[in-house]
This record gives sequence, C-alpha cells and structure tokens, in this order.
Amino acid sequence: MQAEHRQRREKLMAKIGNGTAIFRSAPMAVMHNDVEYAFRQDSDFFYLTGFNEPSAVAVLAPHHDEHKFVLFVQPKEPEKEVWTGYRAGVEGAKELYGADEAFPMSELDEKLPKYLEKADRIYYHLGRDKAFNDTVLKHWQQLMRTYPKRGIGPTAIEDTGPILHAMRLIKSEAELELMRKAAAISVEAHLLAQEMAKPGVFEYEIQAEMERLFRLRGGNGPAYPSIVASGPNACILHYIENNRQLQENDLLLIDAGGAYGYYNGDITRTFPVSGNFTPEQKVIYDLVLTAQLKAIEQVQPGNEWSKIHETAVRVLVEGLMDLKILVGDIEEIIKEEKYKPYYMHRTGHWLGLDVHDVGVYQFGEQSQILQAGQVLTVEPGLYFGGNIKPVEGQPELDERWRGIGIRIEDDVLVTNSGHEILTAGVPK
Ligand code: GLY
Ligand code: MN
Ligand code: MN
Repeated sequence: MQAEHRQRREKLMAKIGNGTAIFRSAPMAVMHNDVEYAFRQDSDFFYLTGFNEPSAVAVLAPHHDEHKFVLFVQPKEPEKEVWTGYRAGVEGAKELYGADEAFPMSELDEKLPKYLEKADRIYYHLGRDKAFNDTVLKHWQQLMRTYPKRGIGPTAIEDTGPILHAMRLIKSEAELELMRKAAAISVEAHLLAQEMAKPGVFEYEIQAEMERLFRLRGGNGPAYPSIVASGPNACILHYIENNRQLQENDLLLIDAGGAYGYYNGDITRTFPVSGNFTPEQKVIYDLVLTAQLKAIEQVQPGNEWSKIHETAVRVLVEGLMDLKILVGDIEEIIKEEKYKPYYMHRTGHWLGLDVHDVGVYQFGEQSQILQAGQVLTVEPGLYFGGNIKPVEGQPELDERWRGIGIRIEDDVLVTNSGHEILTAGVPK
C-alpha cells in the first residue's frame, strides 16, 4: 500500500504545482468525562498517507528540493505509549510511511514556514479543526507581513477538496478490493439478520449479531450507527434506539454495513418478520423494488448522476398515482416535489472512505457524469409515518398505508461496460 499512497501524493502534487498542501489528522472526540471515542483517522489524511495516528500534520510541498512529503508526528515516548499505544515516531514516519522528512509536532511552528515561504498558495481545508486553523492562519499572516520584502509567498488559501476529492471519487483496484470486502461482510451480516428475525426477537439482538460479524471478519466495526427498525420505526430515517420487540405483522428495515480497511459497506433491506407481506406491504415493497431496479439500470458510464434519482422518483410517483396516494399532473408532482412527504431523501450517494463519500454531484446546472471506478448507493424508499401529512391539494393518506416504511439499498460500482452490484448477495 505504501507505493499506492505515494502515487496518490504524486498525483495531487502534480496538480498543485507551486502550492503547499497541509493536512491535519482527525481530532479525538470525547465520549464522556476523560474517555475518548476510538480514534478514526481523517479520510483525506489516511488516503494520502496511510498514517493512522492522531496529533499529526502532513505537508506536501512539490516545489521543495528535497522534502516533498513531510510528517509532523507524536514522537516516541515509551512511558506514554504504555498508556495510549504504539507510535511510529519520527523515524517510523520516514521508514514506514515514506516521509522525506519528519519532525515531532512540538517543532511545527518552527519548521512549517520553511515549506510555505516559497509556495504561491496554501492548499488547506479550513473548518474542521478550529485550533489548527489558527495555526495555519498565523503562519500565513506572518509570511504576508514579509511579502513586500520578498515578493514571493502564498497569497491565497485554497480548499484542497475539489482537487483531492475528484481523485477519491474514482476508486483504484486496491481500494475496490477493500470495498468488496466491506460489501461482503455487510452481505453476510444481512443474511444472518434475515435468519434471526422472527416475532419476539428484539431489534438490538439482531444489531448485536450483525456488529459482531463486522469485527469477527476482521473489519473495523459498523460503518455508521446500525438501523434495525421494525414496524413503525422504519419510518424514522435515522432510528438507532433498536430496542423494540418484533411483532407478527411487522416489516423489518435494516440499514447496516460494516467497514473494512476503513472503506464502508451500506446496505438496506426491508422484509416481513413473519415471512409474508400483508397485501399493503407487498404493494409498496414491489413499488420500491421496481424503482430501485430501474434506477440501478441507469448506473452506466456516460450517464448523468441525476438520472438515477430522477428515474427512481418517476417510478415511485407513477406507482403512488396508481394507488391514488398522489393525484394530478405527474410532471407537476415531480417538479414541485409533491411526493416529498413520502420520499424525502435522495436516491443515493458516493461511497468510499466516508459513507457519504466526497465528490461533486452537480457542477452548477451540469450533473456529474458517471465513470468507471465510482461507487455509489442506490436506495429509494417510501415512508408512511404516523404524523406525515400530504402537501396541500393532495388527498389525506388512507389509514391502511400508515406505519409502512420501506427502503432498499445496494452498493454499485460503475464499470466500463455498465455496473456491478457489490451487495447483490442479499436477496430482495
Ligand atoms: N446509512 C446511511 C445511508 O444510507 O445513507
Ligand atoms: Mn444505508
Ligand atoms: Mn446510504
């Protein structure tokens, strides 16, 4: 993997020319009192370095004669490592991670200006770490103070996202290998859940067994808080309490995925706990499934990203009109989003190191064009929650639909010839 991280840095450096890019490791987050959540590296930082420790800074200075890749890290301190774990240290940063030069974090203020003073701009994402923003701004300000004497130095700060995230959007073979593993453990967990589900079982029992598998298979754990939502809970998009007991006529919506090598799986299935749909559940399920299958057909290189959502919306609206849940002119319903009380989210998102991965969806009026190597989810749904009201001019919702919530989600890779569904192993 070291060679691949180097390739990524070189590709980024080729694009930033005389700039210097600065990346900050992820902050530690407090769970309670003096206990922190398990550390999870910032995805940009990890993508470029593979370095998985907190309190670090990576600098890319393509214009520097010798030090094009510099890491500032926590130095080795055996008495601290006894408490908080192994550190690569300054030497490890060079030997294990390929840094041309490395320093302890305590030398950042002294050493960083050397890598900025000849740059024409600083590439940095302002916003994530306020304290570190101040550090970057302080150095920039100091360099600008001496600019009149030197006539050289960074005159702007530019967000790294547009360049770096366009790279992250197209997955390499090595990344796809990890994404396939994330998909595989997510598939296995859903199959297990479908076996377990029956009346009397608690949602958390299913959650527990799925999350156990994510770790048991060598993954990092859940990719996001698992949603195991039975009956009316399925209408709450981010339901995570998972404490209800499954009932005979329930649908069970499970939106859960595992991470592997920090890449994420993201699968939703909805199925009847007893094995049989009620007639109403079946009608809505078939409609969502048709929308999902038609939307997946649109995952083809050269197609517009927006086509996926548009296709799903049109199928759902047509079906809701057949059921008299929506009435009127179909084009107006779609244009004015009158379906939104029942379908309030988008049909998918990029998937990768982040579950809602980076990458542009829309360049102004122009949708992103699908191309091989992109991975995305396709996840239409319909939700008839207890308090949902139709928009003005649309009929009241018939009580027989109340409490039904259905979503079906797969992870789809765009290939040269079409697409590959990474999560096809879970039945629909
Ligand atoms: N589970 C998060 C999502 O489906 O977007
Ligand atoms: Mn999901
Ligand atoms: Mn998703």
